[in-house]
Amino acid sequence: MGGLSVLLLAAGTAPAPGAPGAPGVTGGSSPRVAALIARMTLDEKLSFVHGDTDPEALGQAGYIPGVPRLGIPELRLTDGPAGVRVNAHATAMPAPVALASSFDDRLARTFGQVIGRDGRALGQDVLLSPMTNIIRVPYAGRNFETFSEDPLLSSRMVAGEIEGVQSQGLIATVKHYAENNQEDNRMGVNVHVDEQTLRQIELPAFEAAVKAGAGAVMCSYNSVNGSHGCGSDELLNSILKEQWGFRGWVMSDWGATHATTDIVDGLDQEMPSAAYLGAELKTAIQNGTVPMSELNDSVARILGRMEKFGLLDGRSDQRPARDPEGGARAAQQVAESGAVLLKNAGGSLPLTGEDTSIGLIGPTAKTPKVTGGGSSNVVPDFAASPLDTITARAGEGATVRYAAGGDNTGLPIPATALSPALPVGPDGAITVTPDESFFHTGTLTVPTEGDYSFVFDLPAAYGAVLIDGSNVLTGFLGSSTARVHLTAGAHSFAAGALAIQGAPTKVRLNWVTPQAAQAAREEAVALARQVRTPIVFAYDDGTEGVDRKDLSLPADQDGLISAVAEANPNTVVVLNTGSSITMPWLSEVKAVLDMYYPGQNGAEATARLLYGDVNPSGKLSQTFPADESVTPVAGDPLRYPGVDDQEYYSEGVHVGYRWYDKERADPLFPFGYGLSYTSFSYRDLRVRQQHGELTVSFTLKNTGARDGDEVAQVYVGASPGTAAQQAVRSLAGYQKVHLRAGQSKTVRIRVDAQQLKYWNTSADAWALGTGKRGVWVGGSSRTLPLHTSVDVTR
Ligand code: BGC
Repeated sequence: MGGLSVLLLAAGTAPAPGAPGAPGVTGGSSPRVAALIARMTLDEKLSFVHGDTDPEALGQAGYIPGVPRLGIPELRLTDGPAGVRVNAHATAMPAPVALASSFDDRLARTFGQVIGRDGRALGQDVLLSPMTNIIRVPYAGRNFETFSEDPLLSSRMVAGEIEGVQSQGLIATVKHYAENNQEDNRMGVNVHVDEQTLRQIELPAFEAAVKAGAGAVMCSYNSVNGSHGCGSDELLNSILKEQWGFRGWVMSDWGATHATTDIVDGLDQEMPSAAYLGAELKTAIQNGTVPMSELNDSVARILGRMEKFGLLDGRSDQRPARDPEGGARAAQQVAESGAVLLKNAGGSLPLTGEDTSIGLIGPTAKTPKVTGGGSSNVVPDFAASPLDTITARAGEGATVRYAAGGDNTGLPIPATALSPALPVGPDGAITVTPDESFFHTGTLTVPTEGDYSFVFDLPAAYGAVLIDGSNVLTGFLGSSTARVHLTAGAHSFAAGALAIQGAPTKVRLNWVTPQAAQAAREEAVALARQVRTPIVFAYDDGTEGVDRKDLSLPADQDGLISAVAEANPNTVVVLNTGSSITMPWLSEVKAVLDMYYPGQNGAEATARLLYGDVNPSGKLSQTFPADESVTPVAGDPLRYPGVDDQEYYSEGVHVGYRWYDKERADPLFPFGYGLSYTSFSYRDLRVRQQHGELTVSFTLKNTGARDGDEVAQVYVGASPGTAAQQAVRSLAGYQKVHLRAGQSKTVRIRVDAQQLKYWNTSADAWALGTGKRGVWVGGSSRTLPLHTSVDVTR
């Protein structure tokens, strides 16, 4: 319950909300909800504020039992951001970062609709998604699961997705509120962020989610300015519930509740079980430390959403059928629309009829990379191999050959190298059950010095590997790889895994020796020499729970790409990566197409993009650094990853491209950047200002020979009217425009007043940035051919 409401009720000045007999039930709830609460026992009420175990074991992340005697059904809560994660097949959508790169608000809605329908059909009621934390740290493990480094783009994506999810009757949960911008030490880190930065960079997308009607909010593991995300009075009560008027409920991230009294401070539901808000809360209520009105309010918030979504009227029993074909079509559309063409020297893409000899290289060219690891890892309905889709598209006159070039699954570590051997079954896997974790120690003896890769596949488990006492690999729901340099001889080795989805699972811990890696590389280089066009598929294994250690491709794929490019200058690179990477080989290759983790229809989308059946139109939703020493968090451990659990967002509002602009630093690829197989020109800029709102119009022309989409972007500069922190330029509007070859259109983009405001910390309010301000229009944050200025007045 909000702190303000507590005061009002205590003072007896608030109108009696809800039905009599149910103190604390706020204006957000209906008489029906209030009447239900009035009939509930204390234990029944308590059953809503913490999670339980699902007797049906559908494999979702959370469960609330309901109160059958009052006709209140169970509630099932499932991840997540790239599709429904249960013990069943679902539509595996592309990573949300790919959706954001489409800059297509309508597509965000479609994306949400697919997951919403799937979730309902798969027996779920609440979706633990979307994630909308800002991309602040290039290394952050969950950058693929969220949208962008820009608050406006994230706001529009999150709103569209939530509308889509909830249009199907599934309750959306925006997460992780707030400032969960990294994975390393996510449970321990205390983020120090100034009020202006908090309001302008991280919070806008959460507010947009609330405005779009999100039913629930998940508070984060990390602390913000000294308070746990799930215990922050400022974030949960003042901002979320009072200022934004949020009527839904706040649930904790899994294990993010730190005190029984958190419920007083805004948290409504502890997940996944009841460490604090079970027995401890019961005692606190019985002895009067926590007023019953607080509990009533939390229950009312949950029941209020259940009522709104028809769950109190039997909707749980009326579920739609799945629509796997529709889901697949949408997944493909997002993959096609969000892919970013980063380089295309000499128009080497699209592939044409002359490209009759193609060499596909890289393990994800054959075994598709569908999704990232962690809680958004989805079991796809089906996922074709790029080798098959490209072979089919290349046609009969062409030859498409394959060489792995590397190995992202590895082979079992033989008993001659590891003693005692791993306890694998005949299928090479180790069985882990909820009751029996796997833990193994031994001695690893390697005959030669070199780089050994360890690949831990953990479909429903958490795992780690230690060599010579150091943790070299941590993985979680998905496959993780670590490359370790070992000297010849004996090394201590320890590995463990635990099942985390309440069911037995099989894990595999394999390795790739330097000799095997070298042989695979030589085979790829030989293939590159024999074909006209080598296409290297490069991947990484982004996952929740850990950040990347650096921005290079894992398993020395940088070396592989360089070796292939040296053998054949026509090399094309397709990226199956989750976030920005450095590209030391960029000048050596002809073309780079970033597909991200493209979802279950990624292979079809990749073939169509490579052959020009669709024209690439995605734009980067985050800056790609040229060098790891020049990023917004480089060289300052207090900025990232934090020191002694303290981290300072001392770059202020200068996150992402705002930092590169301020520092005049050159990125590898700027925010908003992406190429097309056609070209566009911009002219005739006109800007009209009225009451702090802008209407920006210009003529956009497709000057090339192919139809295509351009994401036209409007940026606004600093206001001379304030001494507050300001970006050189901020994205203030965008529109994705379709133009036939040769066609021109007048494009009109409205910049609403909010985009011209800054957070005035002393007034504790938004203020219009008045005075003469620059307006730029173009196709990326660094390609802005149109420029004027406008006098902004109230
Ligand atoms: C993640 C959440 C997720 C939850 C349930 C947590 O570890 O941070 O994003 O929804 O687990 O799976």
